[in-house]
Amino acid sequence: MLCSDGTKKLSFGGSIKDGDLVIVYEKRDVMKAVKVSPTPELWTLVLSHRTQILYIADISFLITYLEIVPGSLVLESGTGSGSLTTSLARAVAPTGHVYTFDFHQQRAASAREDFQSTGVDSLVTVGVRDIQGEGFPDEYSGLADSVFLDLPQPWLAVPSAGKMLKQDGTLCSFSPCIEQVQRTCEALKSNFRGLLRVRGDIGQAREALCRTAQ
Ligand SMILES: C[S@@+](CC[C@H](N)C(=O)[O-])C[C@H]1O[C@@H](n2cnc3c(N)ncnc32)[C@H](O)[C@@H]1O
Repeated sequence: MLCSDGTKKLSFGGSIKDGDLVIVYEKRDVMKAVKVSPTPELWTLVLSHRTQILYIADISFLITYLEIVPGSLVLESGTGSGSLTTSLARAVAPTGHVYTFDFHQQRAASAREDFQSTGVDSLVTVGVRDIQGEGFPDEYSGLADSVFLDLPQPWLAVPSAGKMLKQDGTLCSFSPCIEQVQRTCEALKSNFRGLLRVRGDIGQAREALCRTAQ
């Protein structure tokens, strides 16, 4: 490993840092140099799991379908371990913002620390709030380009999410259980006009159902 700062001594005691040049030996006599920088993809692989998290396959899909672009204003709940939030932050940068809410004080505090250490804190605001009980704060009414829900009872948050969205804004709710999906679809049908897409994997849903039944 080579230090990016040539004035500093090389140390093997610490961790690899942003900007360090890492020499990777592909074979005994073939090397390549890789400049390390933290990406949301790498962060999702190494973050500390305080909850179940979203992984890159689902994250890429939902960011595309929510049409999140630089400048978007995104509302999210729950924050959980911040896996999705980190990718959302990169997608809205440099002028957009992600307002993410979790009702668990300690999780919200840990997420704030993580966003600071990964350098996305200027793009993300973490709030402590019971989104199923109270809904999103009224100050975002009609301002959100996208709303994302990863909650145990997302159907309770659907009416508030609808109020937050701009005309033609998009809502996505992620649930592992088919019963959650069914109840959320009912709430979406009675609160929204427009396109309803349900994407699911029955195998996954069954697995999730088995897990909850144990
Ligand atoms: C599965 S985790 C979200 C994981 C997140 N999508 C990620 O990729 O790291 C669900 C989160 O929702 C939070 N939560 C549950 N009920 C809530 C509520 N009523 N209001 C706000 N957050 C809630 C939990 O505390 C938990 O952190």
